[in-house]
Amino acid sequence: MKIDPKKLVAAADKAREGSVSPYSRFKVGAALLTKGGEIIGGANVESASYGLTCCAERIALFKALTEGKKHFTAVAVVARCDDGPMPCGACRQLLREYAPDAKVYIADSDDLKTIRTFTVKGLLPEAFVLVP
Ligand code: THU
Repeated sequence: MKIDPKKLVAAADKAREGSVSPYSRFKVGAALLTKGGEIIGGANVESASYGLTCCAERIALFKALTEGKKHFTAVAVVARCDDGPMPCGACRQLLREYAPDAKVYIADSDDLKTIRTFTVKGLLPEAFVLVP
């Protein structure tokens, strides 16, 4: 299935509308693409106990995994910040474990046409993995 980065970024931007971020007011959306062409979106959810906050990437990944999706070819992440939001270390680890071969598309919600492309493995080299 051919990847259309613009379409996946648009899906992440749409998922961003679901952000529950009353504390930071920083809305993040993510969208995962499965090998079969399905798109699963997610957005960040915050807690008054700040450390319980969960990033958009992990929400999308946990949704997809618990719906039985396994093989991911790409993930897009969108927020309103210059150059777009880079995934945090925790999300990089989870993506490395469950979407190791995925491309990563990053965009600023004010400029969805400018997409920066990375790979999960490139964002977390020499990762800790128990299952290669
Ligand atoms: N956040 C994400 O959802 N993804 C990232 O890649 C970086 C940070 C969220 C967590 C929190 O709700 C807000 O952004 C501010 O840190």
